[in-house]
Amino acid sequence: MIYAMLALIIILSLLIILMAPFPVVGFFIGAPYYPSNSRKVKKMIELADLRKGQTVADLGAGDGRVIYEASKKGVEAHCIEINPILTLYSRLKFRKIKNIKIINKNMWKVDLSSYDRIFLFCLSKEMKKFEKKLQMEMKPGSLVISNIFKFNKWIPVKAQDSIYVYKVTK
Ligand SMILES: C[S@@+](CC[C@H](N)C(=O)[O-])C[C@H]1O[C@@H](n2cnc3c(N)ncnc32)[C@H](O)[C@@H]1O
Repeated sequence: MIYAMLALIIILSLLIILMAPFPVVGFFIGAPYYPSNSRKVKKMIELADLRKGQTVADLGAGDGRVIYEASKKGVEAHCIEINPILTLYSRLKFRKIKNIKIINKNMWKVDLSSYDRIFLFCLSKEMKKFEKKLQMEMKPGSLVISNIFKFNKWIPVKAQDSIYVYKVTK
């Protein structure tokens, strides 16, 4: 009986590890993994108006596709991702790109004060809480580029193709 239970626990643990990149697990740890399509990624980068020397982050970076495109503009580009499998995948994929940093961390625990641009694609229920964190921590003039979801009170300075750009003012 004990061996059967142990075997079941091992099988379940393996299943969770293998399923980690997929929406079912993401659902329990925050926004599920649902990658932006290439048209959206291109548009987000265009709207972000990136300049060499800036530091940018994608909060909940998934497989790092937004950050990869951003890195081509000469910025210091950070993937912040809670899912260890997606983190490992990006680390392997981008290991030779010097200006990409992969950080396996809960985005709520990241200090955002050094970022000039933040990319977001998270659940609408989290946007209200995020509005406060971003406005409090980011420097004036920095931009937040949100795919699909809008903030509660903050008025976007640009909106195209369901992508909203917000400017921090203090
Ligand atoms: C909708 S996907 C977006 C992926 C990527 N930004 C894109 O546009 O393709 C959301 C990602 O956020 C990650 N995530 C959810 N909650 C998180 C948290 N608290 N901290 C860091 N990452 C988180 C999920 O694992 C998932 O990869």
